[in-house]
Amino acid sequence: MFVTFEGSEGVGKSTQLRLLKTYLEQTGQPAVYIREPGSTEISEQIRAVILDKANSAMEDMTEALLYAASRAQLVREVILPAIDEGKLIICDRYIDSSVAYQGYGRGLGAQTIKYINAYAIGNCMPDVTVFLDLPPKKNWRGDRQDDRIEQQSDEFFERVYKGYLAEIELSPSRFVCIKPEFDKNATSQKIISALRQRGAIR
Ligand code: TMP
Repeated sequence: MFVTFEGSEGVGKSTQLRLLKTYLEQTGQPAVYIREPGSTEISEQIRAVILDKANSAMEDMTEALLYAASRAQLVREVILPAIDEGKLIICDRYIDSSVAYQGYGRGLGAQTIKYINAYAIGNCMPDVTVFLDLPPKKNWRGDRQDDRIEQQSDEFFERVYKGYLAEIELSPSRFVCIKPEFDKNATSQKIISALRQRGAIR
């Protein structure tokens, strides 16, 4: 099972991934935990280039191709071998982030991003994608500007959010949409029961 987590900044994704990991460990369910961009030596180097605030001259298309390049490495080095071995994979962001951020946020278009990523991932799509659904106005992003993406405007994050919703409408069966609550444990319970219902975890 290949499970991905998606959502805008400040929706509590890292916290939820941590709580899911705790649950899986406590119930004896091993998993491969990865994040995008990153999780291979080469992909982490690409991540550093993409997110470096000094790279303000980076073209949107360069950014999109770098995310895809990082993904191409991760798919071949980690994800496909793990799928072959029947492992559970939990991935923090994947292609939907590129469609939402570069396709809608940057305005490159969803089709362009899918076209580029077809080279990167082939048909390696997640079985289930958990989307933490919190509109930018209600999220907990605050004033964080730690990297090049976090520096973007409120309008950018509005487009990203709308992009996610548009993609979910196109393939509703792949997505589990969860509205994060202030109580992070309650949100975690919702995620766990949705993933259990899908047969992704026990
Ligand atoms: P993170 O903060 O969840 O680690 O993700 C790094 C940033 O990269 C985050 O702002 C979202 C962004 N991103 C994209 O713009 N496109 C992508 O394809 C991915 C995977 C992440």
